[in-house]
Amino acid sequence: MKFFIDTANLDQIKEAQDLGVLDGVTTNPSLMAKEGITGKENILQHYKDICEIVDGDVSAEVIATDFDNMISEGTVLANLHKQIVVKLPMIKDGIKAAKYFSDNGVKTNVTLVFSAGQALLAAKAGATYVSPFIGRLDDISTDGLNLIAEIRQIYDNYGFTTQILAASVRHTMHVIDCAKLGADVMTGPLSSITGLLRHPLTDIGLEKFLSDYKKGN
Ligand code: E4P
Repeated sequence: MKFFIDTANLDQIKEAQDLGVLDGVTTNPSLMAKEGITGKENILQHYKDICEIVDGDVSAEVIATDFDNMISEGTVLANLHKQIVVKLPMIKDGIKAAKYFSDNGVKTNVTLVFSAGQALLAAKAGATYVSPFIGRLDDISTDGLNLIAEIRQIYDNYGFTTQILAASVRHTMHVIDCAKLGADVMTGPLSSITGLLRHPLTDIGLEKFLSDYKKGN
């Protein structure tokens, strides 16, 4: 299972990278705005800065909602750095753009996916990643994890190679449940990764080992 961090915060990306378990980064316009990154040139530079920190794929989302502008915007993003994955919204022109980029050897991430049917279309279009938003489904009393299970079954039935990128992950249990269900990737906040470290018995056990060592040395 690949671990992506879902942020545009460079310090958090560095912290996850330093831990040695980071496989990539996802961003979206809201996350860029949260870091105060505005203006086309600043946004493009920020993507490049992220790519310099991590080794893996970095999703950069288009703002355009029509095919022609998605293609020109996505092409600029893809040419920024070899790690850039063009992130496209799950709308009709987004699917057409995913097909175009797939045919032209550009990696894509189809985002804002909330149903198995949408995920099936993304796979048919040759998307590299599909991003079902599990946390936002949970927010409206709908089982986000069930969507991961449905997509896994459908993709396995037909051997689709589109990777299931469980997005809108909010906490460690989402990560563990997605791993059990066979999601290829998860993206979440830094806390959803570092939270996996914690167990009180680890802390108690380590304290005992160290105090016993000190008694004899
Ligand atoms: C995915 O690529 C999105 O950026 C993200 O996971 C959305 O998460 P949220 O629902 O916590 O905003």
